[in-house]
Amino acid sequence: AEFHALVPAAGSGSRMGSELPKQYLPLAGHPLIYHALATLCACPQLTTVFVVLSPQDEWFKGYDWSCLGDKLQLLYCGGATRAESVLNGLLMSELEPDDWVLVHDAARPCLTQAHLEKLITELRDDPVGGILAAPVADTLKRAGESNRIARTEDRNGLWGAQTPQMFRAGLLAQALNSAIEVTDEASAIEALGLSPKLVASDSTNFKVTYPQDLRLAELLLNG
Ligand code: CTP
Ligand code: MG
Repeated sequence: AEFHALVPAAGSGSRMGSELPKQYLPLAGHPLIYHALATLCACPQLTTVFVVLSPQDEWFKGYDWSCLGDKLQLLYCGGATRAESVLNGLLMSELEPDDWVLVHDAARPCLTQAHLEKLITELRDDPVGGILAAPVADTLKRAGESNRIARTEDRNGLWGAQTPQMFRAGLLAQALNSAIEVTDEASAIEALGLSPKLVASDSTNFKVTYPQDLRLAELLLNG
């Protein structure tokens, strides 16, 4: 079986609050999405890097991607939700059911080869697949009425889900096809009664969501 990446990049970045979708905002000398694509394209285990774009996307083609080599494949089939974008991309990619697919957010620019290496090594013989994730560091509060603390949740055993999320293409398509309102691939697999593996990552693989996240990403990428 081969390994492929699929990068959903059809979001509008509403929490970023910028006119330009966040995946195209300038970051360390490139559009934000470049950084994840460059890391994925440079990973020797990955055959193809699929990018799922909105059918209305008018920005991607405005950049020169030739420096990334010939692994990139564009799919203009983004949907209304992230899960829909990933499912549409999977169907259009025509991967073999047994192929592994690593779904990675365009908005996580600080992914490294070490993260990828660890994920693939830990999961390549796994019956289910799994995700990069990091143990939660903050103490967790449940909000009650008018943001008063209702209670403190037990942080023990809680992890924050990251990407890539790595599953067999056939199983993932089946899971997403029957899933409703999932925010990541693992949730769809869990809904089938399976238990994806947590592969320990770290906080540097964070998602750029709000304007202040750009400065932190810039620092890490220039480091
Ligand atoms: N995404 C997608 N299709 C959608 C929604 C999101 O492909 N309909 C992608 C985004 O482009 C991003 C990734 O999924 O790379 C993670 O989503 P998120 O960080 O939530 O990005 P947005 O949905 O664009 O941002 P927001 O939720 O703030 O609007
Ligand atoms: Mg979103």
